[in-house]
Amino acid sequence: MAIRIDGKVISTEIKDELKAHVAELAAAGKEICLAVIQVGNDKASTVYVSNKKKACEYIGIKSLAYELPEETTTEELLAIIEELNARADVNGILVQLPVPKHIDEEKILLAISPDKDVDGFHPVSVGRLNIGQKGFRSCTPAGVIQLLKRTGIAIDGKECVVIGRSNIVGKPMAAMLLAENGTVTVCHSHTKNLAEVTKRADILVVAIGKPKMITAEYVKEGATVIDVGIHRMDDGKLCGDVDFESVEPIAGAITPVPGGVGPMTIAMLMYNCVASAEMNE
Ligand code: GUN
Repeated sequence: MAIRIDGKVISTEIKDELKAHVAELAAAGKEICLAVIQVGNDKASTVYVSNKKKACEYIGIKSLAYELPEETTTEELLAIIEELNARADVNGILVQLPVPKHIDEEKILLAISPDKDVDGFHPVSVGRLNIGQKGFRSCTPAGVIQLLKRTGIAIDGKECVVIGRSNIVGKPMAAMLLAENGTVTVCHSHTKNLAEVTKRADILVVAIGKPKMITAEYVKEGATVIDVGIHRMDDGKLCGDVDFESVEPIAGAITPVPGGVGPMTIAMLMYNCVASAEMNE
């Protein structure tokens, strides 16, 4: 039976560490502030944004909420970002994705100052990650690294396989595992003999966006399996990209869905906000 990696417990541990640290900073007169911008009212985004605000409140970070109408133009959004870039009291700027189709997402992400890019999506942040410089790390893969480290799972010298090559998860995940001295392979929809590759993995990170696709046939006995996917099934239950019932009996360690990677994303966003306040002092 696999060890269950509990993202709820580990994310709470991180948030509590941050809360204590933020209290120290506050005592020294330093306030931290995150600006959260949502355009339109995509239901899932509203839930994510609300959870981000709640996490800020828990830790003692001030949040500035911008709830903009669906019709907001790229130019209007750029003007708000420019204003927030210039404000010394704002440490982090986050534009919840996806933005409505008529908004130029690339332009928006590029406009956020790399010094306030707490999502780690700006090309400067991506570049810094890839050449091993200090900078903001994309929150979900950074959360996966914390899950591994805090569970005592070594990455150094291990065969790491990432399934998925998105800019938000797959690519930064591969770069972070490489930075930890893992031997990294990235698989995607064109990969031939997927199971043959994934069966080599000591650490398998799954971010493909297909419910329960990864079954025991894809996993080496004793491997650590990290499931980044989250899907709502017809019966209302949540599941991941990994078929948990099939994989758990042979894995060495596994993240559940919900309660695995999910809670880590916001914990790492909070980490980036605190780091931002300290970096730009
Ligand atoms: N949409 C889905 N995940 C994220 C995230 O981590 N950050 C932002 N800004 N939008 C998202």
